[in-house]
Amino acid sequence: MSIGFVAVAAGKNILLIIGGGIAAYKCLELIRRLRDRGHRVRAVMTKSAQQFVTPLSVGALTNERVLTDLFNLDEEREIGHIRLARDPDVIVVAPATANLLARMAGGHADDLATAVLLATDKPVLVAPAMNPAMWRNKATQRNVTQLKADGIRFAGPAVGEMAERGEAGPGRLVEVPELIAAIESIFEGEAETSGALAGRHVLITSGPTHEPIDPIRYLANRSSGKQGFELAAAARNLGARVTLITGPVALPEPQGITIVRIKTAAEMLEAVQAALPADIAVFAAAVADWRVDAPQTEKIKKAEGKRAPTLTLTENPDILRTIAQSGPLRPRLVIGFAAETEDVLAHAKKKLKSKRADWIIANDVSPASGVMGGESNTVHVITAGGVENWPEMSKAKVAQRIMERAAVELHARRTAAE
Ligand code: C5P
Repeated sequence: MSIGFVAVAAGKNILLIIGGGIAAYKCLELIRRLRDRGHRVRAVMTKSAQQFVTPLSVGALTNERVLTDLFNLDEEREIGHIRLARDPDVIVVAPATANLLARMAGGHADDLATAVLLATDKPVLVAPAMNPAMWRNKATQRNVTQLKADGIRFAGPAVGEMAERGEAGPGRLVEVPELIAAIESIFEGEAETSGALAGRHVLITSGPTHEPIDPIRYLANRSSGKQGFELAAAARNLGARVTLITGPVALPEPQGITIVRIKTAAEMLEAVQAALPADIAVFAAAVADWRVDAPQTEKIKKAEGKRAPTLTLTENPDILRTIAQSGPLRPRLVIGFAAETEDVLAHAKKKLKSKRADWIIANDVSPASGVMGGESNTVHVITAGGVENWPEMSKAKVAQRIMERAAVELHARRTAAE
């Protein structure tokens, strides 16, 4: 299964403790991918891990000296196991063997890996990998229960084929993307509590627009506004000042947000311009592409023998494009949405350029997808750097991840500009 994820906090320090198991080779890929995502990785290897992969290959990938021995005086002088336990933002144990879990649960400290684990006050994530019989064994299960009660987080094991022929069941190391998602979800919680968008102004457009035909009738679309409202709540949760400019929707008003209610695209553009400057602008509204050229001031009457009226449409202003080209008032991060019913990625990539957006969040809104009005969303994030395919998530989770990622990006842009 492929799973998408976001770098919520680039440049985290990760201490990877590699246990002795056939799955240890997957750590090489894990290290590579973590470093690609901007994290720093330092590795500790148990004695038996070194039977499966060499410290040389691990060191080449981490670009750091691999630590193996508690009593190596050099290492003790250079780092010391107490500092090694306190420096990282998270400690990841992968693969965690039955033996390593038992020693952790028992509070042992008879090698560098267990000494560090006993000394740490940082979050510890464990990814077990062992034979299914060893995983199911009562002793292992007792240790797992104890470790969970001690606050240790678990990723996996996954269920599937074992390296031993013919064996299957729970005991496989989780796939690398899932492990990375589990690691980064620990940082996400952090971003939320640390107010990653404190002092920033986030502008969000949401919902449909209503383009009048006459005082009674209008042109509209099926947008529920849910994704935009969730984005506003997520930005607020990260400490931002939020202005939500919304078309007509039937959603409860989130607290702590400035809401501007508009009906037409022209009103939306005016409200957006009035709300600038902003640090981040997210255009989640399903703006009507066209409006009726000359809306009638009185209700259009039908009468026997009278032909049905012909509506002449005029193109609406493109709010996203206008703001993305607004010179000094352009928000530092401009994010658009691309709701498509076919060729989702191809259209979205074109939109990134033509609209001058920094990111486009693309999603499939064909009736079969259930996105319009539904609770969940499957999105692709298109940036100048490429495409990320995120797994299906609730709209709230999508919003949280977009805003966390936007906070990281904004920080990087501000640092680069200073
Ligand atoms: O061109 P299309 O409507 O597919 O582009 C979608 C993106 O552009 C969305 O982010 C939407 O909010 C924004 N948009 C806009 N004004 C328009 C049309 C679209 O801001 N008139």
